Amino acid sequence: MFITFEGVEGSGKTTQIKRLTARLEAAGRTVVVTRQPGGCALGTTLRAILLSTKTQNLDSRAELFLYLADRAQHVAEVIRPAQAAGHVVVCDRFADSTVAYQGYGRGLDVALLNTLNDVAVAGAWPQHTFLLDIDPEQGLRRALARNIEAGCAVNEGRFEAEALDFHRLVRQGYLALASQHPRRFSTLDAAKSPDAVADDIWRVLQPELG
Ligand code: TMP
Repeated sequence: MFITFEGVEGSGKTTQIKRLTARLEAAGRTVVVTRQPGGCALGTTLRAILLSTKTQNLDSRAELFLYLADRAQHVAEVIRPAQAAGHVVVCDRFADSTVAYQGYGRGLDVALLNTLNDVAVAGAWPQHTFLLDIDPEQGLRRALARNIEAGCAVNEGRFEAEALDFHRLVRQGYLALASQHPRRFSTLDAAKSPDAVADDIWRVLQPELG
């Protein structure tokens, strides 16, 4: 099973992935937790470039191709082998982030992004995508507090530094994706308590675990 988490900054993906992993492991599953960008060696290098506030004047198309390169390598090196071994793969962001951020956020052509994502994903589309939906203003407040606490406000803040309007477009993009793929997406209210969101996620997945 391949599960992805999506959402604007500060939507609580990391917390929910930890909670879901604990529940899946308690149910006897082996879970591979990974993320984009950064889930493989190439991705670690690309992540440092993509998220650093020191990266300036990065052209939207160059940014796009770095995300796609990360995705293609990550699918080949991490996701496919984990699936072949029968593990549950839980990924923090995947191809939908490209449509939401580079498409709706940056304004690149969404139809073209869908085609390029198909090339990078090479058939390894997730069975379930949890969209943790939250007002971007609230999410950004959480993300900035988290970054300051973790001491990484400078190293990984390039997207948090985008204007609120950018994040509003990203959210619109996610909601559009969720309505286009209702069977794959579950949209959850991420303003609820972490316990309540974790229960919502488990209610969706538990019936499928057999
Ligand atoms: P995160 O790991 O803290 O969520 O940060 C990843 C950032 O990269 C986040 O701001 C969203 C952005 N991103 C894209 O713009 N396009 C993509 O395809 C992916 C995977 C992430």
